[in-house]
Amino acid sequence: MRKTIGVFDSGVGGLTVVKELIRQLPNEDIVYFGDTARVPYGIKSRETVIRFSIENILFLLKHDVKLICVACNTVSSFALPVIKNHFRVPIVGVITPGVREAVYATQNKRVGVIGTRGTINSRAYELEIKQLDPSVKVTAVACPLFVPFAEEGWLEGSVVMQVARSYLQPLKAAGVDTVILGCTHYPLLKPVIKKIMGKKVELIDSAKQVAVEVKNILAAEGLCNGKRKGSHKFCVSDNPDWFKSLATRFLGHDIKDVTKVSLS
Ligand code: DGL
Repeated sequence: MRKTIGVFDSGVGGLTVVKELIRQLPNEDIVYFGDTARVPYGIKSRETVIRFSIENILFLLKHDVKLICVACNTVSSFALPVIKNHFRVPIVGVITPGVREAVYATQNKRVGVIGTRGTINSRAYELEIKQLDPSVKVTAVACPLFVPFAEEGWLEGSVVMQVARSYLQPLKAAGVDTVILGCTHYPLLKPVIKKIMGKKVELIDSAKQVAVEVKNILAAEGLCNGKRKGSHKFCVSDNPDWFKSLATRFLGHDIKDVTKVSLS
C-alpha cells in the first residue's frame, strides 16, 4: 500500500516547502496540515509550540504517513529535538538542511540568519552553524513584519523596502556574504532582500535542501513511491477559504479542495 508524506506548518507558509517536495518528488502522495486556527507560532512560547506540534503530528499519523516534514522554522527550532524522541516515524525539519547549505556557501565565514522572534530567540540556527563550523560568525535578526507582508502580498514598494532596510542593517554592518531565510514566508520577499543585501550575497532558501533530505531518507529506507503521479491533500484547522486564497502565491498553483479538520 502507498504511504504518504505528512507535512505540517503553523499555516500557509509551509506550502513553500510543499512546492519543492512536489517538484523533486512528483510521485509521492502528500498530506499537508496548516494550523490556521493557532497561527502565528513565531510569537508563542517553546512549551506551546511543542504542544501544538505533538497534536499536529498525531493528526498526520492518522493518514498512514511514512515520514513527517516539519515545514516550519519556529517548530523546527523549538520542538524538533523533543518530537523526534516521541515518535518512531522519521521526522525532517528545516534547520539542518539550511545550515549545511549556508556553511558550504559562505566564503568569508559570516552568515546572517533571519526568522521569527521564536526562531531567533531559540538560537537554533546559530548553535547548529557553530557545531558544523565554529569559525563562522553568525548575525541573527528577527523580522516579524515579513510574515504579514508575505501574506498580504506586499512583496515590493517603499514601505516594505524601508522596513527591510531597517531589519537587515545589522547583517550589512556585519558584512555577511550568506543569509539564511529562516522562515517559511521569506522566500517570497527574496527580490527585496536581494536588493538590499546586494547581488553578491547568497540567499539560502532551505526548501530545496529539505526536499533533497526527504528524498534521501525515502530512498535509504526503500520507501519511495512508484510511477503513478502523487496526490496532494490539504487540511487546515480554520479558515479554508483564506488558506485557499493565499495558496497560489506560496505554492505556485491553485488548490481546489481544502478540508477543515478538528484536532480533538
Ligand atoms: N511558519 C512560521 C515559520 O517558519 C512563520 C509563521 C508563524 O509565525 O507561524 O517560522
